[in-house]
Amino acid sequence: MSAVGIGVIGVGVISDTYLENLASFPDVEVLIVGDLLLDRAQAQAEKHGIPAFGSAEDVLAHEGVDLVVNLTVPAAHIEVSRAAIAAGKHVWTEKPLGLDREAAAELLREASAAGLRIGSAPDTLLGPAFQAVRRAIDSGVIGRPLFAQTVFQTQGPDLWHPSPAFLFAEGAGPLLDMGPYYFSALVSLLGPVDRVSAVGTKAREERVIHAGPDAGTTFPVEVPSTIQIVTAFEQGAQAQSLLSFDSALERHGIVEIHGTDGSIVIPDPNRFSGRIAYVKPLGVIRDGMSFEQEWIEVAHDDIEVGRGIGALDMVRAIADGRPHVASGDLGFHVLDILLSAQEAAATGRTVTVESTVAPVPLLPDGFDPFAATL
Ligand SMILES: NC(=O)c1ccc[n+]([C@@H]2O[C@H](COP(=O)([O-])OP(=O)(O)OC[C@H]3O[C@@H](n4cnc5c(N)ncnc54)[C@H](O)[C@@H]3O)[C@@H](O)[C@H]2O)c1
Repeated sequence: MSAVGIGVIGVGVISDTYLENLASFPDVEVLIVGDLLLDRAQAQAEKHGIPAFGSAEDVLAHEGVDLVVNLTVPAAHIEVSRAAIAAGKHVWTEKPLGLDREAAAELLREASAAGLRIGSAPDTLLGPAFQAVRRAIDSGVIGRPLFAQTVFQTQGPDLWHPSPAFLFAEGAGPLLDMGPYYFSALVSLLGPVDRVSAVGTKAREERVIHAGPDAGTTFPVEVPSTIQIVTAFEQGAQAQSLLSFDSALERHGIVEIHGTDGSIVIPDPNRFSGRIAYVKPLGVIRDGMSFEQEWIEVAHDDIEVGRGIGALDMVRAIADGRPHVASGDLGFHVLDILLSAQEAAATGRTVTVESTVAPVPLLPDGFDPFAATL
């Protein structure tokens, strides 16, 4: 065998990162990029040395393409992924998997019927840091996980994104844009979610673009720009999560898991590296003793991987006949959790999450993205 052919649909802001990383993995080769904007597709093909460019249809018609990487905006994810499945291609899609449960479930059914696979971002779960977190918690360093806290609070992506309207529209907001990172990590660590409660708010009805050619233009805020969620997991753990685009204080990437025998801080789930450390219970405090706790660091590989490793895992998993890590089923369960949180915030009721998901697998030992294995 040789490198698996990839076609990328949607070559906006995040495509540079993907195209750079995919070019560094010998097991895959990007053969064509497509976009609604042909100029943009051409520019990205030239910049990254990709042999062909065109429309989404051109990508789907390319015979060498076995897997489509869908980097369109969330509102187009399902339509593009379903067209790729209909064209006989496996799909890696950016998050969220879709905007509603029915269409996302239909996509998974169509893929399964066609014997094709769906993978869904985030693939930070496959980074060496997160894999080390999983191994540490699975080995019992904090005992049985009891509760988790996650924090993402920023001024919002309208500060830097040249076309940020989609990030404040249905299908995004901090919940659906950033929630997939935090909830994919929590589900991988604590198992599937049973139910959620939430409250949400909006700082403003309109916001202003700050970067790029449309700077100064206003756009509507369609969804809560701050949301706080309380989550109950099937296996008994619980979590509280803040997701906000309204905070003057920039603080994000905080994930802490507290267990019966320790507390662990883990890297930003939107990143592939970072510090992992835990503390053990103090034991008995006697008069005059310090409450200072000793941090125990968890060492892990620091290889430079990034977005695209999920698509790489898919092509290797297909070749090996094993499940891939960031699966469509995980993407569906996370979407279901986030939509349930949205409904909980809108109604004030606790919402039961109907879907579940099998335990998220670890990457095989010795997984080296930069090796040629096919
Ligand atoms: N920007 C980031 O930092 C970032 C990070 C991680 C993930 N993501 C995700 O990546 C995806 C893309 O984000 P972005 O910031 O690159 O957006 P973007 O708006 O910069 O780019 C999206 C591109 O998709 C194209 N497109 C839209 N609909 C299409 C269709 N039907 N057919 C073909 N092309 C189509 C647009 O023309 C545009 O070039 C989103 O799902 C986002 O959630 C973005």
